Amino acid sequence: MALEDEAQVSEAQIAVHWREEEYYQPPTKFIGQANASDPEILERFGEDRFPECFKDYADLLTWDHYWHTTLDTSNPPFWKWFVGGRLNASYNCVDRHLKRDPNKAALVWVPEPEEELTQAITYRELYQRVNEFAALLQGFCGTETGDRVTFHLPMVPELPVAMLACARLGVVHSQVFGGFSGAACGGRIADSQSRILVTMDGYYRNGELVDHKVKADEAVERAREEGVEVEKVLVWRRHPGQYASKSPMVPGRDFFVDEVMPDYRGKLVDPVSMPAEAPLFIMYSSGTTGRPKGCQHSTGGYLAYVAGTSKYYQDIHPEDTYWCAADIGWITGHSYIVYGPLALGTTSVMYEGVPTYPDAGRPWRIAERLGVNIFHTAPTTIRMLRKLGPDEPAKYDYHFKHMTTVGEPIEPEVWRWYYDVVGKGEAAIVDTWWQTENGGFLGSTLPALQPMKPGSCGPGVLGIYPVIYDEEGNEVEAGSGKAGNICIRNPWPGIFQTIWGDPDRFVSTYYEKYCRDRDSKDWHDWPYFANDGAMQAADGYFRILGRVDDVINVAGHRLGTKELESAAVMVEEIAEAAAVPVVDEMRGRAVEMYVALKPGVAPSKEVEDKVARMIETEIGKIARPKNVWIVPDMPKTRSGKIMRRVIAGISNFTDVGDTSTLANPEVVEDIREHVQGEKTARGEVPKELSAKDQEEIRQFGQAE
Ligand code: WTA
Repeated sequence: MALEDEAQVSEAQIAVHWREEEYYQPPTKFIGQANASDPEILERFGEDRFPECFKDYADLLTWDHYWHTTLDTSNPPFWKWFVGGRLNASYNCVDRHLKRDPNKAALVWVPEPEEELTQAITYRELYQRVNEFAALLQGFCGTETGDRVTFHLPMVPELPVAMLACARLGVVHSQVFGGFSGAACGGRIADSQSRILVTMDGYYRNGELVDHKVKADEAVERAREEGVEVEKVLVWRRHPGQYASKSPMVPGRDFFVDEVMPDYRGKLVDPVSMPAEAPLFIMYSSGTTGRPKGCQHSTGGYLAYVAGTSKYYQDIHPEDTYWCAADIGWITGHSYIVYGPLALGTTSVMYEGVPTYPDAGRPWRIAERLGVNIFHTAPTTIRMLRKLGPDEPAKYDYHFKHMTTVGEPIEPEVWRWYYDVVGKGEAAIVDTWWQTENGGFLGSTLPALQPMKPGSCGPGVLGIYPVIYDEEGNEVEAGSGKAGNICIRNPWPGIFQTIWGDPDRFVSTYYEKYCRDRDSKDWHDWPYFANDGAMQAADGYFRILGRVDDVINVAGHRLGTKELESAAVMVEEIAEAAAVPVVDEMRGRAVEMYVALKPGVAPSKEVEDKVARMIETEIGKIARPKNVWIVPDMPKTRSGKIMRRVIAGISNFTDVGDTSTLANPEVVEDIREHVQGEKTARGEVPKELSAKDQEEIRQFGQAE
């Protein structure tokens, strides 16, 4: 649908110009072995079976006491699941698998240096390590059930060990992504009031042994400024006995774990039987504005939800070798590297480093060597691998039955490369839409039962009933071609319980907008507002447009950044694209595109024109970019998300804000020189922006 043909869209709706994509049917071989291959499962999770349908997930766990109430809605929107039940998450992920298969690998850890040996950690060995670390936390640190402990750990096996040790004690863990700064970690320590910080001296990233301990000192300092005193810093050593950091150990505060551990060798600690609604962990949302939100996840509901979705959507069987290439510092890693796969007793692979180190064939070598048959990653990694090694997958003899994409919308062109080249046409793909707040998947296809459609996540998952509302709370119909705000009408077991220490913000951010009656105890009156824009096709599949403020309003037409970017990557020379607004006197905003080229392609005016033409054809004249900037690389966060506000700041000659959390801060100056130099030469330097415009540019692409 071209824009010109369309009636004027209201501010409440986002015009949508996606082309409908063809379905891909799941491979027959996959269907034959899938955990969910009988369509009857869809009925079992029908709305008339809610909330009892989730017993199916809870029964995947071992309970010390079975629950009496599936869902308690007496204090909306603070839902309680499986009330009366008691269980221990560590027991469920470790101990209970010992009876069946103690010597099977629970974790396989691949260090970044390719010459360093891979470590397989059996369930038996994991049991020992978890017990020993739990004993150390208890004996050496005096932690008690209900305390919080912060980790600032890289992708090493010590991280899942530490998580499961806390879970064993009923201690709430809070892992801060290893790539975050010491200050960011310190703020989170203070917010969660942790007295203990667990860190590591260093880790490998892109061929270098990074000094990580130095961040612990900054973190402790920052926490102190915010009123929280860290009593002990436990430092694992990447190479035990050899200290990899320049930062001195502070006597009485800092301790090497490998030196303290001998006192706890062989010790066992009974798993503490926790109420289903006891908090299991806090995960700070990756939101880049405002104070980070500590999303508090429950023990029973969360674990049941990740076990159930791992089984049916990741199609994990105990005999699979499953590799989720996310970082455990994000929710994806918590749910789908650690808790979900281990609850099901499978083998979960972890990789320390950068997927393209030392070259873009690395992931496929790992897959071949370890016999990985389920692969899980994000569009940013897929785009990077497509850019740097488009022909690499074919060189390796691995076979995936199943693949996942998660974290942002995937452009259909990129999806097809993933399917054809990475998956060799043999794998079912799930595009899973969800959030740090949600515990597990919200939108996805059931891999053996529902066909795939590139760029769409699919319908709501089992037991999740999404709806799209406009700004006034009217339902936007499926197939209407209009987008709006996607909400979930019902509670589900994986939903976070609250924002740590800030229940009012929990209510105001996620529930206030569409709540029908603040006094109602009926969950129907409390839809969950995901803060994402989406549209629903006639077949019920959702296409996620990204956070609601990732929209560029050109002369009243609201253009989703993702659809602009999808059109740009349809140009064969383009590897990656980002759309940003520039303030425009005539139209309010105009679009500017930043594009990175595939290797071997030289920048040219011709490529720029191709991008502009493609956007014009795919979306409409109004979307034609004012400028197309070819850049060597996009400024990205360490989790791989493009920081659109940084390039928006460059395009508008405004402050780019803090760039210290970028994975590649050095590209910012290069891009600025190039773009602003050209713009100055062309006489495109804007007049002083109004405060409101400045604020909008500063906030662009970073909703709460
Ligand atoms: C976006 C990651 C499109 C969305 C699990 C969401 C997606 C935010 C998808 C959450 C997907 C996540 N398709 N968009 N499959 N998955 N998103 O908290 O905007 O790091 O709100 O959780 O990523 O990111 P978060």
